[in-house]
Amino acid sequence: MKFARSGVLASLACAFMASVGVTQAAVAAPALSMGFSQVGAESEWRSANSASIKDAAKKDGVNLKFADAQQKQENQVKAIRSFIAQKVDVIAFSPVVESGWETVLREAKAANIPVILTDRAVNVSDPSLYATFIGSDFVEEGRRAGRWLLERARKTPGQSINIVELQGTVGSAPAIDRKRGFEQEIAANPKLKIIRSQSGDFTRAKGKEVMEAFLKAQGKDIQVLYAHNDDMAIGAIQAIEEAGLRPGVDILVISIDGVKGAFEAMMAGKMNVTVECNPLLGPQLMQAARDVVGHKPVPKRITTVEGVFPAEVAAREFPNRKY
Ligand code: AHR
Repeated sequence: MKFARSGVLASLACAFMASVGVTQAAVAAPALSMGFSQVGAESEWRSANSASIKDAAKKDGVNLKFADAQQKQENQVKAIRSFIAQKVDVIAFSPVVESGWETVLREAKAANIPVILTDRAVNVSDPSLYATFIGSDFVEEGRRAGRWLLERARKTPGQSINIVELQGTVGSAPAIDRKRGFEQEIAANPKLKIIRSQSGDFTRAKGKEVMEAFLKAQGKDIQVLYAHNDDMAIGAIQAIEEAGLRPGVDILVISIDGVKGAFEAMMAGKMNVTVECNPLLGPQLMQAARDVVGHKPVPKRITTVEGVFPAEVAAREFPNRKY
């Protein structure tokens, strides 16, 4: 049953109950139903994001239908269609890749079900196909990583610095934007060069595998690893150690997310900096869902506030980390 319609029915029920002497407290408000299609379970970040959404739904009394797409767009499209068929009040999803969403989003619009994007954006010609987008500014995250390196490179002026880049999932918003933001910043110093760049699909296993290939091809010519997320960086750290090199010293490690695993690596001297990407979007999502379904105005873009954590502050910040 649609939320708005069920809201009217509940009010009528309340009025009737009151007329026959039953208190309002005894009449439960109808739960808002939300279909959520998650990217997958590819990283520590993603697990924290899923937990945040499930917890917030539970606390808010939202009837959550949660579907894990295992990093496949076709699974997300199927899940969204099934939410439409179930007539949920609102659909939310974190799109695995940016493009290819027009058709299914039009189907949701035709069924009068509002859609909220979380974490990752979509590339659509009609912005009315979604109500709001809650998540990080990935370009800025890439810039922050680049700025840290520019600052670090000032200590060794004139020295060429070769960078290898582990990209996230091909075609995903964070992979595209983090690459762009980083490149924009490092362009200020011609001594900084990306010599290899390949996707590690945001996973530890792939990050390790691709880093092994980078080390094989470039040997000791690598001075910096820039990984689009902590999981790939942690996998790559293993590869660097297995190659007999010291991560964090022989090869500087720059990463994004700020998960506990990254703080542990920094405290062990194996990672140099992590740029925060906050996965705890559940409470904001539930609030936005209530507002959207209740026809209250919501901003088209809700950006998460985030910081940068270099290794020097890791031990002090670790106890405060929530994911
Ligand atoms: O979309 C956010 C990214 O997806 C995170 O940086 C990464 O860890 C995750 O898998």
